[in-house]
Amino acid sequence: TKVALITGGYTGEAEVSFKSAAFVHSQLDQERYAIYPITISADAWFHVNDAGIKSLVNRENFSLTIDDHLVTFDIAFIIIHGTPGEDGRLQGYFDMIGLPYTSCNALTSALTMNKGYTKAILADIADLFVAKSVLLFANDRATGADRVAAALKLPYFVKPNAGGSSIGMTKVKELAELAPALDKAFDAENTGSQVLIEEFVTGREFSQGIFRNAAGELVVLPATEVKTTREFFDFEAKYIPGLTEEITPADLTAEQQERASRILQDIYVRLNCRGMVRVDFFLEQESDRFYFIEINTIPGQTPQSFIPQQVRASGMKEGDFYAALIEAALQ
Ligand code: DAL
Ligand code: MG
Repeated sequence: TKVALITGGYTGEAEVSFKSAAFVHSQLDQERYAIYPITISADAWFHVNDAGIKSLVNRENFSLTIDDHLVTFDIAFIIIHGTPGEDGRLQGYFDMIGLPYTSCNALTSALTMNKGYTKAILADIADLFVAKSVLLFANDRATGADRVAAALKLPYFVKPNAGGSSIGMTKVKELAELAPALDKAFDAENTGSQVLIEEFVTGREFSQGIFRNAAGELVVLPATEVKTTREFFDFEAKYIPGLTEEITPADLTAEQQERASRILQDIYVRLNCRGMVRVDFFLEQESDRFYFIEINTIPGQTPQSFIPQQVRASGMKEGDFYAALIEAALQ
């Protein structure tokens, strides 16, 4: 099976994508899969082979010509976080040229890249809650801070509505910090023109993956609890080892685990997901309610990322897990 392993992208998460793709590459069985890493950047789509020879992708059919040989693919394994690999653009292109891929379809990818719209669609799932929030659009830039201050209680999380890895995100504890936080989120690179401001939920933070295996069954992975020494789970906390304690499987009661598992399956089915996705939650201390933060349809696969930890904790090998995603997508 010839696999195009798609990496890079146009946002600040490109560096995360390169690490994720390198990890997936290192885990997949190379006897069974011929893997061609392909970088998609704003100015080129290309593969560099072991000999250092660079080939540009033929965009008509996503093929390569390497040393006069034509290479076509059986499947694209998309591992770009953010645009254009997590927001439906590549998915739509692969649909048009008829190349199977491992992720959610174009519509689901585009929808779930928008945190605010996704919250609205999931708000009535049983046992799932959403933090109070305000969604600001490009023309709200001048007046947004006043609207937020009137509608929400401090502290706030301010984030680009279509971002990832906490890039452009600020935890705002005092009103004076709000305007600069909004500017930072509006100015984050290639993450759209909307900003989401949410009320802080006091409690524990969790992240949990789910995927459909090659037999067509939904498999819920063990949850991870995140305990960071930083102000919140920001970019550094996510990727610098040692700043955050990540406990997999998380210490949850049997009832909480069962509830989280039901919520995950409901989300997956309702959003018509495919492949692996990961949902981030807060568990509010007093009410014992799960609050939805966001869903990631191309979740990180760096050695520090949650999904690889959860796969290991479930007793599976990462390579078998990635192979299951490929085999499910080929059916
Ligand atoms: N957006 C990052 C890669 C994640 O969700 O893991
Ligand atoms: Mg994310």
